[in-house]
Amino acid sequence: MIKTGLIGIGFMGRGHLDNYIRLESEGFPVKLVAVCDIDPNKFENKFLPGNIDVGNQKYDFSKYRLYTDIEEMLNKEELDYVDICLPTYLHAEATIKALNRGLNVLCEKPMALNSRECSEMIEAAKRNNRKLMIAHCLRFWPAYEYLKECVETKRFGEFLGGYFYRGGSPPRWSYKNWLLTREKSGGCMLDQHVHDVDTINWLFGKPRAVSTIARNVIPGSGYDLLSTNYIYPNGKVINAQDDWTLQGDYGFEMLFRANFEGGNLVFQNNILKVNPNDAKGFIPELSKDIGYYREIKYFVDCLSSNKPVTVAPPESSKETIEIVEAEVRSADKDGEITPVL
Ligand SMILES: NC(=O)c1ccc[n+]([C@@H]2O[C@H](COP(=O)([O-])OP(=O)(O)OC[C@H]3O[C@@H](n4cnc5c(N)ncnc54)[C@H](O)[C@@H]3O)[C@@H](O)[C@H]2O)c1
Repeated sequence: MIKTGLIGIGFMGRGHLDNYIRLESEGFPVKLVAVCDIDPNKFENKFLPGNIDVGNQKYDFSKYRLYTDIEEMLNKEELDYVDICLPTYLHAEATIKALNRGLNVLCEKPMALNSRECSEMIEAAKRNNRKLMIAHCLRFWPAYEYLKECVETKRFGEFLGGYFYRGGSPPRWSYKNWLLTREKSGGCMLDQHVHDVDTINWLFGKPRAVSTIARNVIPGSGYDLLSTNYIYPNGKVINAQDDWTLQGDYGFEMLFRANFEGGNLVFQNNILKVNPNDAKGFIPELSKDIGYYREIKYFVDCLSSNKPVTVAPPESSKETIEIVEAEVRSADKDGEITPVL
């Protein structure tokens, strides 16, 4: 049995908690034994709603040993890994602390605030010979896995171009409003858009350069409405857009359109449609499980069978941050074509 401690029980922490409850009920060999959050109100089920439907509203926290201090949890518990769902500005510090205690770490995206912190996290994992995975859930999301498979197998020929989008209402639920504070979250550019950046990096590797037009709408929150073109040597036409300033009843949306020589894929309203050039379009049979469930299962599986983390290795997550850094530099210069370092 793999034993874990969950750190941060805010919006995403609850998403993970739901999946630990489900995995345990399914007899999967992972057991959540401890939960840590600096805000004890969370243990009384006092939460603010997020912009997507993750996490139940009420939990029985008496099943877990509860902590308000990370250090204390690490001192008292014997864990195989920690699952870090803390604000981004704490990812590097908490990850390195846990790795130095000999624990493995599953840490939420984005990996960290900048690529320097990412390097320190990778070095700590190597030094301690422990596994580190950043929970880039789209790498485990069935529709995105299907896209990845089409790119790799060339089922519909070469990939020609595509569009990736995410958008939603401003994230107003976070601890001390860290999400809408640029220095703590990196804004929409690093927090929400990073999902599509990571998908593009996963599918095609690092682009040579990027050109980003972006603006700030919510004061102090950094770039929160943006559009990026990704420049690859072979002329693929790829654009991603993000906007977390959509108000009213907008809610949240993620989609993509991918065009191949022999057909196209469209993911919208949570449905993937495949349109081959020379046959009737169809909706493929995909797993109904979402990425949050599948990523935890995968990481636990890597630990229990001592397999390397190949789907979302930390080196690749660091590259994703390097791409975002280039996007910020480009946006600062009104979309100047900017090399990815
Ligand atoms: N994969 C996804 O789709 C997805 C979606 C949302 C958020 N996230 C990521 O999850 C992480 C958390 O985001 P969130 O929206 O849950 O934020 P949040 O503010 O709702 O939750 C953060 C939690 O951490 C706790 N916390 C803060 N400082 C702490 C400390 N020093 N020690 C212990 N607990 C502390 C807070 O009390 C809060 O409960 C971020 O990295 C975010 O980017 C991922």
